[in-house]
Amino acid sequence: MPFITVQPSGNRFEAATGSSLLAALLAAGEPIPHKCEGKAQCGSCHVFVHEGRKSISKIGAAENERLDTIVGVGSKSRLACQSILGAEDVTVELLGFGSGL
Ligand code: FES
Repeated sequence: MPFITVQPSGNRFEAATGSSLLAALLAAGEPIPHKCEGKAQCGSCHVFVHEGRKSISKIGAAENERLDTIVGVGSKSRLACQSILGAEDVTVELLGFGSGL
C-alpha cells in the first residue's frame, strides 16, 4: 500500500496498489480536475510525479498521445487517470494547468 504525498498541499495519505492515481487523489479530497472521467481524452488530470515514478504503470499510447497536446509537459508528466499505483510511495504535484485543449 503506497503512501501518496501531494504538493503543494503537503497532504499525505495511503492508497491502494492497483488503483489509479486519479481515484486515490479524489478519494483523499484533492481538487484534481478530471473532465473526461479518466478516459485519457482531456488532459485535465495532468500532474508531475516527482518520486515513485518507476512503480507506476508505464505510459500507454493513449496517454502519450494526450500528453503530446498539453502545454507544460515535462519528463515527470503523467495523466493521473492513466497512472496505476504500484507498491512504492509516490510524490505528486498538482498543476492546475487545465486541459491544454
Ligand atoms: S481525466 Fe481526462 S485525461 Fe485524465
